[in-house]
Amino acid sequence: MKAIKKAVFPVAGMGTRFLPATKANPKEMLPVVDKPLIQYAAEEAVAAGIDTLIFVTGRNKRSIEDHFDTAYELERELEAKNKTEMLEVLRSILPSHVNCVFIRQSEALGLGHAVLCARPVVNDEPFAVILADDLINFSGKPCLKQMVELFDFQHCSILGTEPVPKSDVSSYGIVDGVEVKKGLMEVSGIVEKPAVDKAPSNVAVVGRYILTPKIFDLLENTQRGAGNEIQLTDAIAELLKEQRVLSYNFEGRRFDCGSKLGYLKAQVEFALEHKEVGEDFRAFLQTLDISAEDKVVPMKKPG
Ligand code: UTP
Repeated sequence: MKAIKKAVFPVAGMGTRFLPATKANPKEMLPVVDKPLIQYAAEEAVAAGIDTLIFVTGRNKRSIEDHFDTAYELERELEAKNKTEMLEVLRSILPSHVNCVFIRQSEALGLGHAVLCARPVVNDEPFAVILADDLINFSGKPCLKQMVELFDFQHCSILGTEPVPKSDVSSYGIVDGVEVKKGLMEVSGIVEKPAVDKAPSNVAVVGRYILTPKIFDLLENTQRGAGNEIQLTDAIAELLKEQRVLSYNFEGRRFDCGSKLGYLKAQVEFALEHKEVGEDFRAFLQTLDISAEDKVVPMKKPG
């Protein structure tokens, strides 16, 4: 089977949980410290050896295209002012061997439909799907690299998963199956957003997938499911009947940046680790009395 060289980024969702911030701006352009979510996702793909980034976009998503395009005027301005460091930051957003392709999903019919829109570019190759609003921090290998290495060995579809509290299962696609190794499961079933008492497990699919191209045939015939949307989960349930699918509990810490709380947690963790501001940010947090019940109060004047 071919190596994974293409990644699909479905970015055509409405981002309703983050309104009004996402009224005119895509949620994938929300910054965590100084980089938009979509850049973290693109960097993760490139680190996994991917050279073609396929963005499935919709209305109000032009800033994503602009972000990965050359900004001539800005570069001239930085050159003129001799701001070489900033210039380098701009120019290294993507390495030169990486290509971006933009496809429009004319109607937000669901994640499954968004993935199907990428078919003409993916063709008959296995490919990755990354949901940029699931931001994954790592200390060893980035999440998708872990999954691509597993794929190179197993040659089948792999779902990035994470055990979640039982009370949260109705927010995720939940898998059923047999554990073959710690954190690795042969998937026998998958269900989108089950009721707590109907969930087959607490192992949730999060925003990382490696899929064989067979998924496209199945998506063509997938009817609207949960939330009246064409669900990727439903097509994966069909895929399971024909091919082997694994679920893999990746190493790393995931933040659901499509939710306000997840986004705020990501900001804090990434800010604390940031080379430029981390130390000062930590010092600032230490000036806050977060044990105060009614509101956070500064304990002492930040230096
Ligand atoms: P979400 O379920 O997070 O939906 O989509 P959303 O619209 O982005 O956000 P909320 O729930 O309204 O706040 C999961 C992923 O699928 C993409 C989204 O951009 C997100 O990355 N998506 C969803 C599409 O590309 N097209 C769709 O029709 C639906």
